Parts: sequence; structure tokens; C-alpha cells
Amino acid sequence: MASGNGSNFQALAKSCSTGELNANISLLVVNNPRCGAKYKAEKLNIPCKTFDHRKYQSRESMDDDILNVFKESNVEAIIMAGWMRIVTNKLIKAFPNRILNIHPSLLPCFPGINAINQALDAKVKITGCTVHMVCEKVDSGPILIQAAVPVYEEDNLAILTSRIQHKEHIILPMGVSMAAKSWRTQ
Ligand code: GAR
Repeated sequence: MASGNGSNFQALAKSCSTGELNANISLLVVNNPRCGAKYKAEKLNIPCKTFDHRKYQSRESMDDDILNVFKESNVEAIIMAGWMRIVTNKLIKAFPNRILNIHPSLLPCFPGINAINQALDAKVKITGCTVHMVCEKVDSGPILIQAAVPVYEEDNLAILTSRIQHKEHIILPMGVSMAAKSWRTQ
């Protein structure tokens, strides 16, 4: 699932094609009809479905539709790779311990939106990124893997974002692989 540029989606797709991750991306779901992730999926020949949140009356009705396509596509796990919408319990309960998220901070610090700006405003010297299981409370599920990233005096949002995303692209496939080991034994 993605909402933005899709650099994390692309990193996952690459790790599947190189064999680093023994997985297949059967479907990309986006909520923004013109997001970069959608165009990346087209180039990679990965099926993509758009669920425009502006066209839905409620989060539940959007999640119902998303759930249906996940079931049709027989997905075994869901990766939120820059997904910027809160999902409902319905989706979470349909895939217990099988939904992962990447967040651009060292959770539990700076949850929610604008995590990188929050880190800059707090003038922390170290921030980073986290891959975690998704549970009902936003950005609070069990943590699988984190990477630390230094913050320098002269950093701005663009520079720090790019430094964090460089690490995200490494730890997201690693986090998926770690979670998959526990799924195999379930
Ligand atoms: C990533 O930095 C990801 O951590 C963040 O959105 C960005 C998406 O970039 N996610 C969140 O903030 C979720 N709360 P991308 O579209 O290039 O992968």
C-alpha cells in the first residue's frame, strides 16, 4: 500500500526481483490516483488498484473495498510502504500480524504525520526509521527493525528525508523477511 513517491515500494520490488526477498508483489494499492508509486508499478508491470479516499463516505467503506481486492488477489501479507491513511480495525483484524508499516522515526518517538519535521523541531541529534507490525493504535505495533540516522545542524527537511529514506530502503525488505520467518512457523 502506498500514497506517495513509491521509493519504498520500488525498494521492495527490487528486493523481490533480486531474490533478497523470497516474495512476489501481487498488487499495489494506492489512494492517490496520481502518486509516484502508481507510475512505478506501471513501469514494473505490477498490478495497481486505486482507492481514492475522496470518493468514500467512510474509512470503513474504503477498507471494505480494499479488503475485497486483497482477498481476490490471495495476498498473504500487506506492507504499508508510505501509506498515509489510517486504516480501520476491520482491515487489521482480517490480517492479524500480517500488516507491516514503515515509519520515518525511531518509534515510539515522533509518531503520526510529519515525523521528520517533528525530529527537526525537537532538535534531536539522532532520528531514524522503524518497521513495525500494524495494530489498532497508530504507529505503535511491535517493532521489527530500526535504523538510526544522524541529524546535522545544517539539515533541512529534504536532506534529512533523503538520508532517512536511504535507510528505509534497506530495512523495509529486512523487516518483511524477519516477519515472514514468524509467519512460516504459525
Ligand atoms: C516514507 O518516508 C515513509 O516512512 C513515510 O512516507 C514516506 C513515503 O516515501 N511514511 C509515513 O510517514 C507513515 N506514517 P515513498 O513514497 O518514497 O516510499
